[in-house]
Amino acid sequence: MSERPQPASEDDLRLFAFKVWNYKQGEAVSLMIHLGDRLGLYRAMTGAGPLSAADLAGRTGLQERWLLEWLRSQAAAGLLDTADGMRFELGAAAEAVLADESGSLWFAAGAFQGAAARPDVVDRLAEAFRTGVGLSYDDLGPSAAHGVERMLGPWSRLALVPRILSSLEGVTERLTGGARVADVGCGAGVAVFAMAEAFPASHFEGFDPSEHAIARAQAKLADSGLANVTFHAAAAADLPREPTHDLVLTLDCLHDMPDPAGAMAAIRRSIKEDGTWLIKDIRSGSTWEQNRRNPMLAMMYATSVATCMSSALSEPGGAGLGTLGLDPDTAERMCRQAGFSRFEVHDFEDPANLYYEVRP
Ligand SMILES: C[S@@+](CC[C@H](N)C(=O)[O-])C[C@H]1O[C@@H](n2cnc3c(N)ncnc32)[C@H](O)[C@@H]1O
Repeated sequence: MSERPQPASEDDLRLFAFKVWNYKQGEAVSLMIHLGDRLGLYRAMTGAGPLSAADLAGRTGLQERWLLEWLRSQAAAGLLDTADGMRFELGAAAEAVLADESGSLWFAAGAFQGAAARPDVVDRLAEAFRTGVGLSYDDLGPSAAHGVERMLGPWSRLALVPRILSSLEGVTERLTGGARVADVGCGAGVAVFAMAEAFPASHFEGFDPSEHAIARAQAKLADSGLANVTFHAAAAADLPREPTHDLVLTLDCLHDMPDPAGAMAAIRRSIKEDGTWLIKDIRSGSTWEQNRRNPMLAMMYATSVATCMSSALSEPGGAGLGTLGLDPDTAERMCRQAGFSRFEVHDFEDPANLYYEVRP
């Protein structure tokens, strides 16, 4: 029998995780290539020089906001050229490989036809470029709720209580003594279960409009034996209108909401005057130049089109912030507009997210 290997160093872990996430990035970008091919976007850009999303909307009749996120996904992937993240050009090689089906031996976009998403979801995404209205998390099907749970689970399970809540002023003490907590946009409830086990004197409520996610949470609750947890198939807007919560969490979900400002106002009403709100949201900057430093930027923008911005535009008039839309400046401005006066950014070295500690 071989000996158990030495534990991996931090550098080895970082490099190996980067290698693995690059394959995921490839999957996400593949779906964007298929959409660009199918919607005629590469062809519409051929020979046109630098185009803005509005220019491309004029040429295709498609929705400008959807095109901007798609254009950024393509530029982040190195398939389109851009200097500023606002105007984009299809280069000569890209034209041959992605646009020129009839005249180029190098044409490859057709190979992306069978994208790694349910065919009916891909059909609806393509339609969303025309109508402007995207898909909610539930529209992606029950397996999407399971996928989100698995993808985001480790940080909620392993870091939320020992590393993150313990760094927020007075929060661990309050939860130990007995507090009321709301996890808004709780998904399948991984964070709720982690907190409820650690703090038996407190009561935890999970809110999420996704029936698929809440069904997963309820099934696990039935098996858990925990008596201090309740789940509601309900959106942020359905929070109690009185100040009842000592701690509110929104983990990786505000940028997905069609009405994040409305959600923030609802949280402001439901939180006690001395309560704490923990926001976890995607690590991003407010400019293209800042975001260019992210080696997974193409995956972020592609995921935005396919999931986050799509959800945030799933109701007519949705804000459509998308995956990179809640950078610290935007988050702070919106929190203050919602009536919060304290806003502090925490970096817990989560590669994908920043954390904001917000108080009334
Ligand atoms: C990326 S998932 C994050 C789930 C969970 N917080 C986690 O960390 O695993 C985003 C969640 O936001 C939820 N969501 C979308 N719109 C919402 C709204 N208006 N109010 C509350 N949750 C919402 C979605 O249903 C989805 O479960």
